[in-house]
This record gives sequence, structure tokens and C-alpha cells, in this order.
Amino acid sequence: MTGRVFPPDFIAAVRAASDIVDVVSDYVRLKKVGQNYVGLCPFHNEDTPSFTVNRGKQMFYCFGCNAGGDVIEFIKQRERVDFPEAVRLLAERAHLPLPARTKEDEERWREREELYYANALALEYFRAELNRPDGEAARRYLERRGIAPAQVEDFGLGYAPARWDGLLSYLEKRGIPPQTAVRAGLAVARQQGNGAYDRFRDRLMFPIRDLRGRVIAFGGRVLGNGEPKYLNSPETPIYSKGRTLYALDRARASIEKENRVLVVEGYLDAVTCHQFGFTWTVASLGTALTREQVDLLKRFSTEVFIGYDADAAGQAATVRGLELTRAAGCRVRVLQVPVGKDPDEFLHTEGREAFAALVEGALPLPDYHYQRLVAKHGKETLEGRVAIAREMVPVLAGIESAVEREEYTRRVAQDLGLRVEALAAEIRRSGGVERGKRPERANKGPAVSFLVPAPRRAEAEALMRLSQLFIFCPQTRAQIAAEIAPEKLGNLPQAVLLRTLLELFQEGEQEFSLPTLSERLPDQGARECLAELAVREDVPSEAVDKLLADYLRLLRRLWVEEEIERLKKEIISLNREGKNEASANLIRRLNDLHREANRLKQAAQLTIPTDGRKEGGTRRAQKG
Ligand code: UTP
Ligand code: MN
Repeated sequence: MTGRVFPPDFIAAVRAASDIVDVVSDYVRLKKVGQNYVGLCPFHNEDTPSFTVNRGKQMFYCFGCNAGGDVIEFIKQRERVDFPEAVRLLAERAHLPLPARTKEDEERWREREELYYANALALEYFRAELNRPDGEAARRYLERRGIAPAQVEDFGLGYAPARWDGLLSYLEKRGIPPQTAVRAGLAVARQQGNGAYDRFRDRLMFPIRDLRGRVIAFGGRVLGNGEPKYLNSPETPIYSKGRTLYALDRARASIEKENRVLVVEGYLDAVTCHQFGFTWTVASLGTALTREQVDLLKRFSTEVFIGYDADAAGQAATVRGLELTRAAGCRVRVLQVPVGKDPDEFLHTEGREAFAALVEGALPLPDYHYQRLVAKHGKETLEGRVAIAREMVPVLAGIESAVEREEYTRRVAQDLGLRVEALAAEIRRSGGVERGKRPERANKGPAVSFLVPAPRRAEAEALMRLSQLFIFCPQTRAQIAAEIAPEKLGNLPQAVLLRTLLELFQEGEQEFSLPTLSERLPDQGARECLAELAVREDVPSEAVDKLLADYLRLLRRLWVEEEIERLKKEIISLNREGKNEASANLIRRLNDLHREANRLKQAAQLTIPTDGRKEGGTRRAQKG
């Protein structure tokens, strides 16, 4: 993307300014568990959290799909960008200016910063105008709509006066030229001649913010009746409507706390919901939910409530948006808002309790679809019932849990007076049950561990343990280096990790910091092993000596056993060829090895951990 090479100092500064828990929290809901933070992996579909972040070590690792690395690796994978672009994104997030940029980078960077600045100034201007004499009508309008002063303040509502150059001159006095105001979408270039005029005039202004709370656009409502009802900022380099959810910056904390999110349609719906205490509300701004909006929501909660008014909710585009949300792995429930009312009106007329009841009574998506189809086709005629059943097939087929799917199928069939088996057969025939497959990555998971022969798994674990001791317990380094010859290590990813450590150590390296280490590892498998180590429980200091001895012994034993197997094969083939003397030599050696293996076995009182988590690193063994 950027194709830039950043100096190591700068990369280190970006890392230092980007705490991995903070950064990951922009994407994943994390919960503290012991030394780690855990959450649902953003790289594969899962219901139980196996994605783990360690703040102390600044690394992440997923026990489900083996994705792992440092904060830059996280952004690389999550934003699907290359290394320099990930560094750039993190730098931007941390407000670190990029060093010696190319001209284009410099331009782009400055332009974005300028647009943020213009929007910030506009916010200031609109807010001030609301409280000036000219803002009287807007203030009265807010009052009439029942919007409390606290909401006006919190949401930064303002007023664009009925002037052609009010904002333009305000900006110009502060160093923002008209061209920039136009690029920010705040002004419109004149068709003829040059110059520009304010886009928003005599409107109530709603600032739209990004996740970090920066104003990126505005929506302006006419006071009273008039067309268009809302005027919005156009798409700009900092604003994309389909990727933005109104009020998410304010709602974020509540969404995480409540573990659910209410999506409404309009600016005012969102403001009013917040005013009545439903602070886990965001607005989709009049569009059906897009894929990007769903991805954004999913970072904070997968329990999605839809609070559109009945007309809007029934529209085809909305229904597609709901399906998209479900398909993305969210549980969707639809509020039954009475026809002709939106949440804003409902709250003002019926009150908080009644709205809370709407939320609690919200229909799960399949029920919602069913109700909609019943209303559309009617259950009275056979044709109607068949039409309902036909359109319910894809809905039912899309239910991931088999138990739920069967239950819904049974209920629908019963309600329509159809045979359950007939409906179930339709669903199977539609092939829909097969859909919703997991991404390939997730399939590398547990199943593979059956394919890895047990000694290899034990070897992988021993190599992991020794690498862990080597990195985190410096006092063990000399002994590990003395007892393990790097060339004896094979090509398991765990072996590659340990070999790299030993080689660095022999070159006199003292500093084994994880991110730097990660960069020096020759392959992805080894980097994933390192990431897994970073999120493992620390080795208790009193256990270091014993673990070190145990795993060195285990590794030696495994190697001896491997050698025994090799010798056996060789002896057999020598015997076949009649080379008895050579064979006898090998047999003597074989006996020695057996004795050594037994000795090592008896000395070992350790058990290899075999629970799933500890096997994480060993699954990869088959790659090697
Ligand atoms: P609504 O027409 O439902 O308006 O549009 P509203 O939000 O309920 O506003 P009030 O209560 O009439 O004042 C829902 C959303 O659709 C977008 C806006 O984001 C609005 O909040 N919209 C609507 C526009 O962008 N432009 C329009 O002209 C109308
Ligand atoms: Mn409304």
C-alpha cells in the first residue's frame, strides 16, 4: 500500500504508543481473565472466546485458529493491510507524525488532518450559533421536540444560521480556505465563477463522529416542514456513510456494559433513546445496515436489537440488512414498534417503561420473518400457507443451531398445518443447512491434533516450554544453550523458534523482547508459537528449575526414542542384506539407547499437559 520502509526507531515508537489491549479493544470486546484479556476471535467464527491478549507482553494469540503476534501483526491481519500500512494506521491512531514521508503520503495526511480540523471548527461554530439570538427558532424547535439541554450538550447539537457564508467566513478567519470547506463537505462550490457557499443553512445540526469521537460530518434538519428534511455531508476522505454509525462513540461503553446494541434509524431516535436512558443506541442514518456497519457493531456486541418504525422495518432493503447482520453471526431481535411511530415519538408519548417492554418483547429474527410473511400472504388460504412456508425455508435453513432450527421448523409447520417432515425435507433440499460454514482458517483447529502422532506433540510441547523458559527466565538460557545443539532441532515451528533463540544467544544477543524477536523469526508458524507463549501463564519462579530439568529430559528422551526407531529400521534392513557384523554393532548401540531411554523415563515424574489450551502450540506440529 504505502510501500514505505520506516526506521526501526519509529516502529518502536509506534509500538510503544499503541498498547495492544487498547488497540484490540477497538475491534474486540475483551474481558480480563487472570493475566490475560480474552474475547471472541476476530479472525474466525467462534462462540466461546479463545482469543487472548497479554498486556504485559504486548502480544495476542488465538487458541482456536492460531493467529497471533504483536499489535502491528494484529492490525495487519484485521485491516488486511501490509506492514507499513499497519504502522501508518497505528501512528495515526496515536497521533504520531510519520517521519520523512513521501510527498503523496504527506499530502494525504495533511488533507485528512485539515478536514478533521474544519469539521471541529464547524462544530464550534454551529454550537455557538444555537445560543445566539438567531438560534431562537432552533432552540424552540428542540424544546418542542422534547430534547433535554443535557442531550443538546452531549451530542453537540447546533444551529446553522440562514446565511450563505456564515461558516465559510468563520473558517476563513481561522485559516481554512473555501476549497477546504468544500472538500470537507461543509460548503458547496458555485457552479459559475469561483467561490462557494455554506451547505447548511437554517438547519438544526447533528454532528456525526467517528469511533474516536472526532467530528467527520454533519446532518442538518429543517426546522419544521421542508425538503429535504435532512441534508447530510457528502462522502469525504474522512467520512463514509456506510461505515459510520451515528452515536456509536457515545454508546460504545454502554453497549459493552449491557452487551447489546439497539439500532434505530434516525438522528433524533438515537438522541431520544439516550435521553430516556437507552444509552446503548446507535443510528444507521436512514440506510439499511451495511456489511461495514455490522462489522463495526460486532466489535462491541453481537446482540443486536432493531428499533425501526414498522414501515421502515418491513422494507426489502432493511430486511436484507437484518439478514446480513444475522449472517455475520449476530443475534438479531426486532422491536415491534407500532405502525407510524418511531422510537422517538414512542418514547415521548408512551414513556420509558413502555419502550423497555418493547425491547424485552423484541422478536427473534425468525419469528419476525414469520410474522411479516403471515401479514403478507395470510394463513387463511392454502396458497397463502404454502407461500409462507416457501419463503420461510431460507430463513429456517439459515439458523445455525440445529436444536433451534428443529424447534422453529416444528413450530412453523404446526402453525401452518403442514407436516414437520415435509418442511424439514424442503430445508435440507435447499442446501441451506450447509451454509454458514466456518472460514477455512478455523478448520485448522482441534481436528488436526488427532493427526499429530503423540511423541511429536510431546516434542512440540517440550520445545515450547523450553522456548518459554529461555525467553522469560533469563537464568535458564546458558543451560538450555549448553544442552541443546541447534542443529539437532528439526523443522517443527516450535523447533524453529527455539533454534532462532539459541542462534541469537550464540551471537551474543541479550535482549529478547517479543516484538523484535517476532520480526527475526523466519516463518509464520514460529511467530505464532511465540505469540502463543506470550499469552500463556507465567512460569512461577519456584517451578523454573524443575520445569527446565523435566523438559530437557523429556526432549532428550524423545530424541533417544526417535533414534531407537531409526536404528531398528536400519538393523532390519542390514539383517536382510546379511550384513551381520554391522547389524551387531547397531544392536549394541540400540541397547545403550534403550537403557538411556529407561533412565530418562524413570527420572521423569512430569506429566505433559494435555488439555486443549496447552495443546495450542502443538497442533501446528504436523506442518513441520
Ligand atoms: P426519518 O424521516 O425517519 O426522520 O429519517 P427522523 O429521524 O425520524 O426525524 P424526525 O423525527 O422526522 O425529525 C430517518 C433518518 O433518515 C435519514 C436521516 O438520517 C434520518 O434521521 N434521512 C431522512 C436523510 O438523510 N435525509 C432525509 O431527507 C430524510
Ligand atoms: Mn422521527
